[in-house]
Amino acid sequence: MLAGKRILLIIGGGIAAFKSLDLIRRLREHGATVTPVLTRAGEEFVTPLSVSALAGSKVYRDLFDLGDEAEMGHIQLSRVADLVVVAPATADLMAKMAGGLANDLASTLLLATDTPVMIVPAMNVRMWEHAATQRNLETLRGDGIAVVGPNDGDMACGEHGPGRMSEPMEIVNAITASCSAGPLAGRSVLVTSGPTHEPIDPVRYIANRSSGAQGTAIARALVALGARVVFVSGPADVLPPSGVELIRVQTAMQMKAAVEAALPVDAAVFAAAVADWRVATASDRKLKKTKGGLPVLEFAENPDILHGVSQMTAGRPALVVGFAAETDDVIENATAKRLRKGCDWIVANDVSPATGIMGGTENAVTLITDAGAEAWPRMGKDAVAQKLAARIADAMKV
Ligand code: C5P
Repeated sequence: MLAGKRILLIIGGGIAAFKSLDLIRRLREHGATVTPVLTRAGEEFVTPLSVSALAGSKVYRDLFDLGDEAEMGHIQLSRVADLVVVAPATADLMAKMAGGLANDLASTLLLATDTPVMIVPAMNVRMWEHAATQRNLETLRGDGIAVVGPNDGDMACGEHGPGRMSEPMEIVNAITASCSAGPLAGRSVLVTSGPTHEPIDPVRYIANRSSGAQGTAIARALVALGARVVFVSGPADVLPPSGVELIRVQTAMQMKAAVEAALPVDAAVFAAAVADWRVATASDRKLKKTKGGLPVLEFAENPDILHGVSQMTAGRPALVVGFAAETDDVIENATAKRLRKGCDWIVANDVSPATGIMGGTENAVTLITDAGAEAWPRMGKDAVAQKLAARIADAMKV
Protein backbone atom coordinates (compact mmCIF):
# COMPACT_ATOMS: atom_id res chain seq x y z
CA MET A 1 0.00 0.00 0.00
CA LEU A 2 1.10 3.51 -0.75
CA ALA A 3 -1.20 5.33 1.66
CA GLY A 4 0.11 8.80 2.37
CA LYS A 5 3.02 8.49 -0.08
CA ARG A 6 3.65 11.50 -2.28
CA ILE A 7 4.89 10.74 -5.77
CA LEU A 8 6.25 13.44 -8.06
CA LEU A 9 5.65 11.94 -11.51
CA ILE A 10 7.64 13.37 -14.41
CA ILE A 11 6.13 12.36 -17.75
CA GLY A 12 8.62 12.50 -20.60
CA GLY A 13 7.89 12.70 -24.31
CA GLY A 14 7.44 9.19 -25.65
CA ILE A 15 4.62 7.10 -27.04
CA ALA A 16 4.59 5.21 -23.71
CA ALA A 17 3.34 8.38 -21.99
CA PHE A 18 -0.21 7.05 -22.46
CA LYS A 19 0.64 4.30 -19.95
CA SER A 20 1.51 7.00 -17.42
CA LEU A 21 -2.15 7.99 -17.36
CA ASP A 22 -3.01 4.50 -16.16
CA LEU A 23 -0.04 4.63 -13.77
CA ILE A 24 -1.53 7.76 -12.16
CA ARG A 25 -4.85 5.95 -11.68
CA ARG A 26 -3.19 2.89 -10.18
CA LEU A 27 -1.02 4.95 -7.84
CA ARG A 28 -4.06 6.81 -6.56
CA GLU A 29 -6.00 3.56 -6.17
CA HIS A 30 -3.13 2.40 -3.94
CA GLY A 31 -3.44 5.50 -1.77
CA ALA A 32 -0.63 7.66 -3.16
CA THR A 33 -0.96 11.30 -4.09
CA VAL A 34 0.51 12.17 -7.47
CA THR A 35 1.91 15.55 -8.44
CA PRO A 36 2.45 15.46 -12.20
CA VAL A 37 5.09 17.27 -14.20
CA LEU A 38 4.70 17.15 -17.96
CA THR A 39 7.64 17.93 -20.24
CA ARG A 40 7.12 19.95 -23.40
CA ALA A 41 7.64 16.75 -25.45
CA GLY A 42 5.31 14.85 -23.10
CA GLU A 43 2.51 17.27 -24.02
CA GLU A 44 2.74 15.99 -27.61
CA PHE A 45 1.57 12.57 -26.37
CA VAL A 46 -0.84 13.25 -23.49
CA THR A 47 -2.76 16.41 -22.72
CA PRO A 48 -2.22 18.43 -19.54
CA LEU A 49 -5.97 18.25 -19.00
CA SER A 50 -6.11 14.44 -18.89
CA VAL A 51 -3.01 14.30 -16.66
CA SER A 52 -4.36 16.80 -14.16
CA ALA A 53 -7.88 15.29 -14.22
CA LEU A 54 -6.54 11.81 -13.41
CA ALA A 55 -4.06 13.10 -10.83
CA GLY A 56 -6.64 15.35 -9.22
CA SER A 57 -3.87 17.91 -9.06
CA LYS A 58 -2.37 20.80 -10.93
CA VAL A 59 0.05 19.73 -13.64
CA TYR A 60 3.39 21.57 -13.60
CA ARG A 61 4.87 22.33 -17.01
CA ASP A 62 7.06 25.37 -17.09
CA LEU A 63 10.22 26.41 -15.27
CA PHE A 64 9.53 30.09 -15.79
CA ASP A 65 5.88 30.14 -14.81
CA LEU A 66 5.70 32.95 -12.30
CA GLY A 67 2.35 31.70 -11.01
CA ASP A 68 3.86 28.30 -10.19
CA GLU A 69 6.96 29.86 -8.63
CA ALA A 70 4.80 31.99 -6.36
CA GLU A 71 2.68 28.97 -5.39
CA MET A 72 5.46 26.44 -4.95
CA GLY A 73 9.01 27.18 -6.15
CA HIS A 74 10.66 24.50 -8.27
CA ILE A 75 13.18 23.68 -5.56
CA GLN A 76 10.41 23.02 -3.07
CA LEU A 77 8.40 21.08 -5.66
CA SER A 78 11.38 18.76 -6.12
CA ARG A 79 11.59 18.02 -2.42
CA VAL A 80 8.09 17.58 -1.09
CA ALA A 81 7.76 14.10 -2.56
CA ASP A 82 8.69 10.74 -1.03
CA LEU A 83 9.80 9.53 -4.45
CA VAL A 84 10.39 11.15 -7.82
CA VAL A 85 9.36 8.83 -10.66
CA VAL A 86 10.27 9.54 -14.29
CA ALA A 87 7.95 7.57 -16.58
CA PRO A 88 8.53 7.37 -19.44
CA ALA A 89 12.20 8.21 -19.05
CA THR A 90 13.25 8.97 -22.61
CA ALA A 91 16.81 8.68 -23.91
CA ASP A 92 16.94 12.47 -23.88
CA LEU A 93 15.81 12.79 -20.25
CA MET A 94 18.29 10.09 -19.18
CA ALA A 95 21.10 11.92 -20.99
CA LYS A 96 20.14 15.20 -19.32
CA MET A 97 20.07 13.52 -15.91
CA ALA A 98 23.41 11.78 -16.45
CA GLY A 99 24.97 15.05 -17.61
CA GLY A 100 23.41 17.16 -14.85
CA LEU A 101 21.60 19.50 -17.26
CA ALA A 102 18.87 21.77 -15.93
CA ASN A 103 17.33 23.53 -18.90
CA ASP A 104 13.65 22.84 -18.33
CA LEU A 105 11.36 22.16 -15.38
CA ALA A 106 11.81 18.35 -15.34
CA SER A 107 15.61 18.37 -15.54
CA THR A 108 15.85 21.21 -13.01
CA LEU A 109 13.66 19.32 -10.53
CA LEU A 110 15.77 16.19 -11.01
CA LEU A 111 18.98 18.10 -10.36
CA ALA A 112 17.56 19.95 -7.35
CA THR A 113 15.88 17.04 -5.63
CA ASP A 114 17.19 15.34 -2.53
CA THR A 115 14.56 12.59 -2.53
CA PRO A 116 15.07 9.16 -4.12
CA VAL A 117 14.56 8.99 -7.88
CA MET A 118 13.25 6.08 -9.96
CA ILE A 119 13.33 6.06 -13.76
CA VAL A 120 11.21 3.89 -16.03
CA PRO A 121 12.95 3.96 -19.41
CA ALA A 122 11.00 3.66 -22.66
CA MET A 123 12.46 4.12 -26.10
CA ASN A 124 13.19 2.50 -29.44
CA VAL A 125 15.36 -0.60 -29.08
CA ARG A 126 18.30 0.90 -31.03
CA MET A 127 18.23 4.00 -28.86
CA TRP A 128 18.18 1.81 -25.72
CA GLU A 129 21.08 -0.30 -26.95
CA HIS A 130 23.12 2.69 -28.11
CA ALA A 131 26.43 2.99 -26.29
CA ALA A 132 25.53 6.52 -25.15
CA THR A 133 22.28 5.40 -23.48
CA GLN A 134 23.98 2.41 -21.85
CA ARG A 135 26.74 4.73 -20.60
CA ASN A 136 24.13 7.12 -19.18
CA LEU A 137 22.29 4.20 -17.58
CA GLU A 138 25.45 3.10 -15.81
CA THR A 139 26.08 6.66 -14.61
CA LEU A 140 22.53 6.95 -13.29
CA ARG A 141 22.74 3.59 -11.49
CA GLY A 142 26.04 4.73 -9.96
CA ASP A 143 24.24 7.89 -8.77
CA GLY A 144 21.84 5.64 -6.84
CA ILE A 145 18.88 6.03 -9.17
CA ALA A 146 16.54 3.03 -9.31
CA VAL A 147 15.74 1.73 -12.78
CA VAL A 148 12.56 -0.20 -13.57
CA GLY A 149 12.50 -2.08 -16.89
CA PRO A 150 12.49 -1.68 -19.80
CA ASN A 151 10.67 -4.82 -20.93
CA ASP A 152 11.25 -6.84 -24.07
CA GLY A 153 8.57 -6.99 -26.73
CA ASP A 154 6.95 -5.44 -29.77
CA MET A 155 7.33 -1.71 -29.90
CA ALA A 156 5.03 0.96 -31.28
CA CYS A 157 7.68 1.71 -33.93
CA GLY A 158 7.37 -1.85 -35.28
CA GLU A 159 10.68 -3.11 -33.91
CA HIS A 160 11.12 -5.82 -31.29
CA GLY A 161 13.42 -5.96 -28.29
CA PRO A 162 14.14 -4.18 -25.02
CA GLY A 163 12.74 -0.67 -24.78
CA ARG A 164 9.05 -1.09 -23.90
CA MET A 165 8.04 0.79 -20.78
CA SER A 166 7.16 -1.47 -17.84
CA GLU A 167 3.45 -1.98 -17.27
CA PRO A 168 1.74 0.34 -14.75
CA MET A 169 1.32 -2.42 -12.14
CA GLU A 170 4.99 -3.40 -12.42
CA ILE A 171 5.87 0.23 -11.73
CA VAL A 172 3.43 0.40 -8.81
CA ASN A 173 5.07 -2.74 -7.34
CA ALA A 174 8.53 -1.27 -7.71
CA ILE A 175 7.36 1.99 -6.11
CA THR A 176 5.69 0.08 -3.27
CA ALA A 177 8.91 -1.86 -2.67
CA SER A 178 11.02 1.27 -2.71
CA CYS A 179 8.65 3.19 -0.39
CA SER A 180 8.08 0.26 1.92
CA ALA A 181 9.69 0.33 5.28
CA GLY A 182 10.66 -3.31 4.78
CA PRO A 183 13.83 -4.45 6.50
CA LEU A 184 15.76 -4.21 3.22
CA ALA A 185 14.48 -0.73 2.26
CA GLY A 186 17.39 1.31 0.95
CA ARG A 187 19.50 -1.82 0.39
CA SER A 188 20.56 -3.08 -3.00
CA VAL A 189 20.91 -6.78 -3.76
CA LEU A 190 22.21 -8.42 -6.92
CA VAL A 191 20.74 -11.80 -7.88
CA THR A 192 22.00 -14.00 -10.72
CA SER A 193 19.60 -16.63 -11.97
CA GLY A 194 18.89 -19.21 -14.64
CA PRO A 195 21.22 -21.16 -16.88
CA THR A 196 23.68 -19.76 -19.38
CA HIS A 197 23.72 -20.72 -23.04
CA GLU A 198 27.16 -21.15 -24.55
CA PRO A 199 27.07 -21.08 -28.34
CA ILE A 200 28.60 -23.82 -30.50
CA ASP A 201 27.54 -22.02 -33.66
CA PRO A 202 24.74 -19.53 -34.40
CA VAL A 203 22.02 -22.20 -33.99
CA ARG A 204 23.39 -24.62 -31.39
CA TYR A 205 24.40 -24.13 -27.79
CA ILE A 206 25.41 -25.93 -24.62
CA ALA A 207 23.07 -25.39 -21.68
CA ASN A 208 21.91 -26.96 -18.42
CA ARG A 209 18.55 -27.81 -16.87
CA SER A 210 18.23 -24.80 -14.56
CA SER A 211 14.75 -23.22 -14.87
CA GLY A 212 15.63 -20.03 -13.00
CA ALA A 213 12.74 -20.73 -10.57
CA GLN A 214 14.79 -20.51 -7.36
CA GLY A 215 16.68 -17.35 -8.36
CA THR A 216 13.43 -15.70 -9.47
CA ALA A 217 11.73 -16.57 -6.19
CA ILE A 218 14.68 -15.14 -4.24
CA ALA A 219 14.55 -11.88 -6.20
CA ARG A 220 10.79 -11.63 -5.60
CA ALA A 221 11.23 -12.24 -1.86
CA LEU A 222 13.96 -9.59 -1.65
CA VAL A 223 11.76 -7.04 -3.47
CA ALA A 224 8.97 -7.83 -1.01
CA LEU A 225 11.31 -6.91 1.86
CA GLY A 226 11.97 -3.54 0.23
CA ALA A 227 15.32 -4.19 -1.46
CA ARG A 228 16.34 -2.68 -4.77
CA VAL A 229 17.10 -5.82 -6.75
CA VAL A 230 19.31 -6.04 -9.82
CA PHE A 231 18.33 -9.33 -11.46
CA VAL A 232 20.82 -10.74 -13.96
CA SER A 233 19.11 -13.63 -15.69
CA GLY A 234 20.21 -16.19 -18.23
CA PRO A 235 17.59 -17.69 -20.56
CA ALA A 236 15.24 -19.04 -17.89
CA ASP A 237 12.00 -21.00 -18.29
CA VAL A 238 10.09 -18.86 -15.80
CA LEU A 239 9.07 -15.22 -16.22
CA PRO A 240 11.27 -12.69 -14.43
CA PRO A 241 9.82 -11.16 -11.25
CA SER A 242 8.34 -7.68 -11.40
CA GLY A 243 9.82 -4.75 -9.58
CA VAL A 244 13.44 -5.66 -10.32
CA GLU A 245 16.06 -4.11 -12.56
CA LEU A 246 16.21 -6.88 -15.14
CA ILE A 247 19.36 -7.54 -17.13
CA ARG A 248 19.04 -10.42 -19.58
CA VAL A 249 22.13 -12.30 -20.68
CA GLN A 250 22.86 -15.47 -22.62
CA THR A 251 26.44 -16.46 -21.87
CA ALA A 252 28.65 -16.63 -18.78
CA MET A 253 30.87 -13.89 -20.20
CA GLN A 254 27.84 -11.61 -20.58
CA MET A 255 26.70 -12.50 -17.06
CA LYS A 256 30.09 -11.54 -15.67
CA ALA A 257 29.98 -8.17 -17.47
CA ALA A 258 26.42 -7.51 -16.24
CA VAL A 259 27.38 -8.38 -12.65
CA GLU A 260 30.38 -6.07 -12.77
CA ALA A 261 28.26 -3.24 -14.18
CA ALA A 262 25.70 -3.70 -11.36
CA LEU A 263 28.26 -3.29 -8.57
CA PRO A 264 28.46 -1.84 -5.97
CA VAL A 265 25.60 -3.53 -4.12
CA ASP A 266 25.05 -4.33 -0.45
CA ALA A 267 24.58 -8.07 -0.99
CA ALA A 268 24.81 -10.53 -3.88
CA VAL A 269 23.12 -13.89 -4.35
CA PHE A 270 24.57 -16.11 -7.09
CA ALA A 271 21.78 -18.53 -7.89
CA ALA A 272 22.61 -18.90 -11.58
CA ALA A 273 23.75 -22.24 -12.94
CA VAL A 274 26.64 -20.80 -14.92
CA ALA A 275 28.19 -23.11 -17.52
CA ASP A 276 31.70 -24.03 -16.44
CA TRP A 277 32.94 -24.16 -20.00
CA ARG A 278 32.28 -22.37 -23.25
CA VAL A 279 33.19 -23.55 -26.71
CA ALA A 280 36.49 -21.83 -27.44
CA THR A 281 36.11 -22.46 -31.12
CA ALA A 282 32.45 -21.36 -31.47
CA SER A 283 31.77 -20.89 -35.14
CA ASP A 284 30.03 -17.81 -36.49
CA ARG A 285 28.58 -20.03 -39.24
CA LYS A 286 26.42 -23.10 -38.81
CA LEU A 287 28.61 -26.22 -38.66
CA LYS A 288 27.88 -28.55 -41.56
CA LYS A 289 27.83 -32.33 -41.59
CA THR A 290 30.90 -33.51 -43.40
CA LYS A 291 31.42 -37.00 -44.77
CA GLY A 292 33.45 -39.18 -42.47
CA GLY A 293 34.22 -36.44 -39.93
CA LEU A 294 32.74 -35.25 -36.67
CA PRO A 295 33.19 -31.71 -35.42
CA VAL A 296 35.81 -31.35 -32.72
CA LEU A 297 34.82 -28.86 -30.06
CA GLU A 298 37.49 -27.26 -27.97
CA PHE A 299 36.45 -25.85 -24.62
CA ALA A 300 37.67 -22.89 -22.61
CA GLU A 301 36.95 -22.38 -18.92
CA ASN A 302 34.43 -19.69 -18.07
CA PRO A 303 35.35 -17.15 -15.40
CA ASP A 304 33.96 -18.02 -11.96
CA ILE A 305 31.81 -14.96 -11.29
CA LEU A 306 31.05 -15.85 -7.66
CA HIS A 307 34.72 -16.42 -6.92
CA GLY A 308 35.69 -13.13 -8.58
CA VAL A 309 33.18 -11.08 -6.57
CA SER A 310 33.97 -12.91 -3.30
CA GLN A 311 37.66 -12.13 -3.70
CA MET A 312 37.22 -8.40 -4.42
CA THR A 313 39.26 -6.24 -2.11
CA ALA A 314 37.53 -2.92 -2.77
CA GLY A 315 33.77 -2.63 -3.14
CA ARG A 316 32.95 -6.24 -2.23
CA PRO A 317 29.28 -6.69 -1.29
CA ALA A 318 28.99 -7.04 2.50
CA LEU A 319 27.28 -10.41 2.04
CA VAL A 320 28.02 -12.82 -0.82
CA VAL A 321 25.84 -15.92 -1.12
CA GLY A 322 26.67 -18.78 -3.48
CA PHE A 323 24.82 -21.95 -4.41
CA ALA A 324 26.18 -25.46 -4.58
CA ALA A 325 24.18 -27.91 -6.63
CA GLU A 326 25.71 -31.30 -5.88
CA THR A 327 24.84 -34.91 -6.51
CA ASP A 328 27.24 -36.51 -3.98
CA ASP A 329 28.54 -35.68 -0.49
CA VAL A 330 26.50 -32.48 -0.59
CA ILE A 331 27.49 -30.95 2.77
CA GLU A 332 31.15 -31.87 2.53
CA ASN A 333 31.49 -30.55 -1.02
CA ALA A 334 29.52 -27.39 -0.29
CA THR A 335 31.53 -26.64 2.87
CA ALA A 336 34.76 -26.95 0.88
CA LYS A 337 33.24 -24.81 -1.89
CA ARG A 338 32.44 -21.97 0.56
CA LEU A 339 36.09 -21.77 1.53
CA ARG A 340 37.43 -22.21 -2.00
CA LYS A 341 35.21 -19.48 -3.43
CA GLY A 342 35.54 -17.13 -0.46
CA CYS A 343 31.80 -16.40 -0.25
CA ASP A 344 30.06 -15.87 3.10
CA TRP A 345 27.24 -18.38 2.73
CA ILE A 346 26.54 -21.34 0.50
CA VAL A 347 23.05 -22.64 -0.13
CA ALA A 348 23.64 -26.32 -0.84
CA ASN A 349 21.20 -28.66 -2.50
CA ASP A 350 21.13 -32.19 -3.81
CA VAL A 351 20.24 -32.12 -7.49
CA SER A 352 20.39 -35.86 -8.09
CA PRO A 353 17.64 -36.67 -10.63
CA ALA A 354 15.76 -38.70 -7.97
CA THR A 355 15.19 -35.55 -5.86
CA GLY A 356 13.28 -33.83 -8.71
CA ILE A 357 14.69 -30.50 -7.51
CA MET A 358 16.35 -29.29 -10.72
CA GLY A 359 13.47 -27.86 -12.74
CA GLY A 360 10.93 -28.76 -9.99
CA THR A 361 8.90 -26.57 -7.62
CA GLU A 362 10.42 -27.73 -4.33
CA ASN A 363 13.87 -27.53 -2.81
CA ALA A 364 15.65 -29.04 0.19
CA VAL A 365 18.63 -26.91 1.08
CA THR A 366 21.34 -26.70 3.69
CA LEU A 367 22.61 -23.24 4.55
CA ILE A 368 26.34 -23.27 5.16
CA THR A 369 27.86 -20.32 6.99
CA ASP A 370 30.95 -19.87 9.14
CA ALA A 371 28.80 -21.16 12.02
CA GLY A 372 28.27 -24.53 10.32
CA ALA A 373 25.62 -26.36 8.31
CA GLU A 374 21.89 -25.81 8.91
CA ALA A 375 19.53 -28.20 7.11
CA TRP A 376 16.16 -26.72 6.16
CA PRO A 377 13.20 -29.03 5.62
CA ARG A 378 12.05 -29.67 2.06
CA MET A 379 9.67 -26.85 1.04
CA GLY A 380 8.49 -24.88 -1.99
CA LYS A 381 11.09 -22.76 -3.77
CA ASP A 382 9.09 -19.63 -2.76
CA ALA A 383 9.32 -20.62 0.90
CA VAL A 384 13.07 -21.27 0.61
CA ALA A 385 13.39 -17.85 -1.01
CA GLN A 386 11.42 -16.10 1.75
CA LYS A 387 13.47 -17.79 4.47
CA LEU A 388 16.72 -16.89 2.75
CA ALA A 389 15.60 -13.27 2.16
CA ALA A 390 14.67 -12.97 5.85
CA ARG A 391 18.13 -14.30 6.81
CA ILE A 392 19.76 -11.81 4.46
CA ALA A 393 17.72 -8.99 6.02
CA ASP A 394 18.87 -10.12 9.49
CA ALA A 395 22.49 -10.22 8.41
CA MET A 396 22.27 -6.74 6.86
CA LYS A 397 21.05 -5.28 10.17
CA VAL A 398 24.39 -5.71 11.87
O1 C5P B 1 31.69 -24.21 -8.85
P1 C5P B 1 30.20 -24.33 -8.94
O2 C5P B 1 29.67 -24.11 -10.33
O3 C5P B 1 29.65 -25.60 -8.34
O4 C5P B 1 29.67 -23.17 -8.00
C1 C5P B 1 28.32 -22.82 -7.92
C2 C5P B 1 28.20 -21.40 -7.47
O5 C5P B 1 29.12 -20.57 -8.17
C3 C5P B 1 26.83 -20.83 -7.78
O6 C5P B 1 26.53 -19.87 -6.80
C4 C5P B 1 27.02 -20.20 -9.16
O7 C5P B 1 26.08 -19.16 -9.39
C5 C5P B 1 28.43 -19.67 -9.05
N1 C5P B 1 29.20 -19.68 -10.31
C6 C5P B 1 29.54 -18.51 -10.91
N2 C5P B 1 30.31 -18.51 -12.05
C7 C5P B 1 30.69 -19.67 -12.62
C8 C5P B 1 30.34 -20.89 -12.00
C9 C5P B 1 29.59 -20.86 -10.86
O8 C5P B 1 29.16 -17.44 -10.40
N3 C5P B 1 31.40 -19.64 -13.73
